[in-house]
Amino acid sequence: MEVKVITGNITEVEADAIIVNFYEDGKSPEGDTAAVDKALDGAISQLIAQGEIKGKLNEVTVVYSLGKLPAARVVVTGLGKQAELTTSKIRGAVAETCRWLRKRGAANIATIAQGAGVNEISLENSAQAITEGALLGLYSFRQHITREEEKLGEIKSLSIVATSEAKPQLEAGSTKGKILAEATNLARDMVNEPANYMTPSHMAERARELAKRYGLEVTILEREQMAELGMGGLLGVAQGSREPPKFIVLSYKGNDAAEINIALLGKGITFDSGGISIKPSEKLEEMKGDMAGGAAVIAAMAAIAQLKPKLNIMGIVPATENLPDGSALKPGDILTAMNGKTIEIISTDAEGRLILADALCYAKKHGARLLVDAATLTGACRIALGDVCTGAFANNQELVGKVIAAGAEAGELIWQMPMYDEYRELNKSEVADIKNVGGRLGGAITAAKFLAEFVDDTPWVHLDIAGTSMSDKERGYVVKGATGVPVRTLVNLVLSLAKENK
Ligand code: BES
Ligand code: MN
Ligand code: ZN
Repeated sequence: MEVKVITGNITEVEADAIIVNFYEDGKSPEGDTAAVDKALDGAISQLIAQGEIKGKLNEVTVVYSLGKLPAARVVVTGLGKQAELTTSKIRGAVAETCRWLRKRGAANIATIAQGAGVNEISLENSAQAITEGALLGLYSFRQHITREEEKLGEIKSLSIVATSEAKPQLEAGSTKGKILAEATNLARDMVNEPANYMTPSHMAERARELAKRYGLEVTILEREQMAELGMGGLLGVAQGSREPPKFIVLSYKGNDAAEINIALLGKGITFDSGGISIKPSEKLEEMKGDMAGGAAVIAAMAAIAQLKPKLNIMGIVPATENLPDGSALKPGDILTAMNGKTIEIISTDAEGRLILADALCYAKKHGARLLVDAATLTGACRIALGDVCTGAFANNQELVGKVIAAGAEAGELIWQMPMYDEYRELNKSEVADIKNVGGRLGGAITAAKFLAEFVDDTPWVHLDIAGTSMSDKERGYVVKGATGVPVRTLVNLVLSLAKENK
């Protein structure tokens, strides 16, 4: 779908449908909605008076224009209480409205700049939210469906209609929204692909293609190089798989200094069977999504390359399968990570932390000043926070504050979890420096504490996205399957860091 900004009056736009709005606490239509209402001889006002249009968030009401407007249909979208309007609500309402219109066969649609001017929502923010809402909400993954598309139809274009003075800001917002939404959908595509189509090699290939398209530097380390660097964690997990592991590094240069301002790291387990500590078979197919953190990092790097912040950024994705085999890692085995620390394996299913340990060491070795990792790390985090919030774990309050703010801007909710020293004890091993499982209690925290052993004092935030990377229901701009979390959080974070660096 193409999203564009056009100048003109919404009452004069030719389209299959035009989208206006109404607030729950509104008395009568306002602004552009009032102009459309007038052209319809007060049809919208009448539906409001009759209580048919209530303005509740995500409510969709259609009014047929019957020749009174060039557009065949007018859709009134409810935006909830005006004082409570946020860009996230606009994003969600536009997504719901677009899906509603797609079901009814609309191909070309137009909208006013929803919410602009309300609660300090700028024209730019409005256009960004509309663009993200449309592109994210209409996403579907049909890669492997050979039968003809059911007559769902497809929305071909969405025009944001405004005055010529407003156009530059709307265009800037829409362009940013497009980059962020397309990156999110790219991550969704990678996560939705089954593990036989998204092996570590395929992930590396996607990273290569994106690097070429957007001018990023790419390095893929192979098994031999991992061995030279002493990446015992990643090699240990990869032992049981016939697919070669890949250590994917994408670098973006935004300034001439040698220093890497921030490294983004993502868990890239393309399938997690649990290994010898094998998982139960129920819902095991979901474990094709155990590379969601890695996909998010690769996609965020693609967005960053287009948005061009003045920072140097490294994206790191250790990628492998976790499978049982005659040569697989076994409980009781001891591995040595890249920094020389020895790890006793209690469960081969706690594999994410093993590959991230080496990735964190690699980032530190390259002098990254800040570290943020994203990983579908623990079922415990999903139990604790559900599919609503990503869990954040940090050794630095300032950085985690910025990550949470970046998430809020994206509409990706993040909740900080405790990291008290008392939890560290639980990972103590009798036979090695540390063990890879600290028990069932506080499992998300002990996993984060394990990672902390490989970070030392570099400011670091770990995002556990086990609950938020997939959705089993459609909700606003979130569709079933992969959500693309936390692509937009990571990009927003980088943009905010670049802003303060100026
Ligand atoms: N990939 C899983 C975590 C996961 C679970 C992600 C459910 C998404 C949905 C991870 O590798 C894992 O298996 N973790 C174990 C750790 C345990 C063995 C300490 C878990 O959470 O059970
Ligand atoms: Mn596992
Ligand atoms: Zn896993």
